[in-house]
Amino acid sequence: MVGGVADTCEAVELAPRVWWVGSMLPADRFQCHVYLVEQGDQSVLIDPGSALIADVVIRKVDSIVGVDHVRWLVCSHQDPDIIGALPALHDRGLHPDAKIVTHWRDEALIVHSGTALPFWRIEEHNWRLPLKDRTLQFRFTPYVHFAGAFCTFDEVSGTLFSSDLFGGFSADLSLYASSMAYFESMRAFHEHYMPSREILAHALDQLRDLPMRRIAPQHGQIIPEELIAPLIGQLQQLECGIYLLARDDPGLAFLLGANRTMRDVVETLVRETEFSVVARHLADLAAQNLRVSSLELWARIGNIDLLPVLFDKVILPSVVQVELTDPGAPPTVQTWIADPPTWLQVHETPSRYSGPAFTDGLDEGRQPPSPWPFRSTPICCSWTIGRA
Ligand SMILES: [Fe+2]
Ligand SMILES: [Fe+2]
Repeated sequence: MVGGVADTCEAVELAPRVWWVGSMLPADRFQCHVYLVEQGDQSVLIDPGSALIADVVIRKVDSIVGVDHVRWLVCSHQDPDIIGALPALHDRGLHPDAKIVTHWRDEALIVHSGTALPFWRIEEHNWRLPLKDRTLQFRFTPYVHFAGAFCTFDEVSGTLFSSDLFGGFSADLSLYASSMAYFESMRAFHEHYMPSREILAHALDQLRDLPMRRIAPQHGQIIPEELIAPLIGQLQQLECGIYLLARDDPGLAFLLGANRTMRDVVETLVRETEFSVVARHLADLAAQNLRVSSLELWARIGNIDLLPVLFDKVILPSVVQVELTDPGAPPTVQTWIADPPTWLQVHETPSRYSGPAFTDGLDEGRQPPSPWPFRSTPICCSWTIGRA
């Protein structure tokens, strides 16, 4: 049958010549699904499965084409729930030219299973496997959840064999997801097995252009076309892996925020040319990602005339003016403030700022001017004159 309620005791045809040949283990929330693309003596087994279900997989493949017609064994990574069935399949008698289809990063580990099967590397074949009536495309999804992980797309049926991506933990033995409630199964799986939201988002980006009609993951339930877009939308927002750990670790959360800020700063510097716009963006980024309430911009006295070029107004708190005239200040500073430029506006220092504790210990002249009676920019431009 195609779609609907399936009898999982037997192989289930998901689309013409595309079969589910896995096994539902009772009381196992971590079901391992195996798929067959029927191609006569060039048939393809996708993520061949765990040693626990090898006998059932062999029986179901035999019921369709015969294990000896399986020419290609796509292994999306090296986990035991994917390659554990290989010895039994090999012993049963695969096609004489059977090969493991995988990425070199996966091959480096799969060889340690002791398999005698040769390898066919997807990256050396333009990420495509031509078959009798269709071509399988491979999309690299590194670190989701292994460095060499990839998905397989069948162009004819529109089936994405997504491996662990879109997988779910579920006590529900139904083969198909029937509602958005499946996201809760996906949440439990992705939170624990995917390394980070950004890596997950990168993987989802690799699939964006595929005309998917169903997603067949290695765990959980098969996702019908109408649920694909909304489930991807929710998955893109999911905090997982390292971001989940950061919920209880302020230090880690700060490092992640700093990392994100660095990336955004570079993007801002590349995209914007107007300094005042750049400065405003930087202040916004610092506020959003690092919870910093202001930025200090420093200028050397030799470049001080840049200030009126960069900003509409340049305000000097009166207490800073006093500091600059102090006999202990560098002579160049004293000389400069004795004959201030016309663009410099000296304002009386407001009453002491009573904001967050980060200002404690700063001298009076470096307090944020929030109560000032003019429209302030997001930048707290408290500048300090260094040596000329
Ligand atoms: Fe895995
Ligand atoms: Fe898996």
